Amino acid sequence: MLKIAVLVSGRGSNLQAIIDAIESGNINGKIEVVISNKNDAYALERARKHNIEGVFIEPLSYKSKEDYDRAIIKILEDKNIELVCLAGFMRILTPYFVNKYRGRIMNIHPSLLPAFPGLEVQKKALDYGVKFTGATVHFVDDGVDSGPIIIQSVVPVLDIDTSETLSERILKEEHRIYPEAIKLFAEGRISVKGRRAFIKHN
Ligand code: GRF
Repeated sequence: MLKIAVLVSGRGSNLQAIIDAIESGNINGKIEVVISNKNDAYALERARKHNIEGVFIEPLSYKSKEDYDRAIIKILEDKNIELVCLAGFMRILTPYFVNKYRGRIMNIHPSLLPAFPGLEVQKKALDYGVKFTGATVHFVDDGVDSGPIIIQSVVPVLDIDTSETLSERILKEEHRIYPEAIKLFAEGRISVKGRRAFIKHN
């Protein structure tokens, strides 16, 4: 059973999708811990409701970003975590963290990467005028939203879309593809060569 940690900062709807996929038996894994850099993240509440340990780590208590990441890693190591899932975690991991868990950190991003990395992504897509956008699950590397892509899902942009309506439709896809990517990982069906992630189909 895959030992998973989920790192969050906010409402945690992707965390919920992962919890649901585990509880329904879709993913052979267990969320050992949810770690947040925000004390009031609703994601921590979701964890509690499902008897999952939730830990708030206060960024202001650490001298440097690397010290902060070391505090997270201490927990991950104590729990023998095999996969780290970023789910709305609003911090950039230090190279120290990425090097330790390379190939074992996933992130979900609400665009078709490499288009629109960073923040305010749906607004950027609308402002640019793309007709299609979507969601991407990728491995985390040293850049921002730049690691090997595991799954993408395409969402059309409608003339009547606002950032909110577009975000909502993208989010539905996020909730579908993030658990799917974790399931593939748990089944050992993802391999990476250079920038490309390959999925073994049974
Ligand atoms: C999602 O849109 C995700 O793609 C982005 O941050 C948002 C987190 O939402 N990285 P939630 O906390 O999972 O509801």
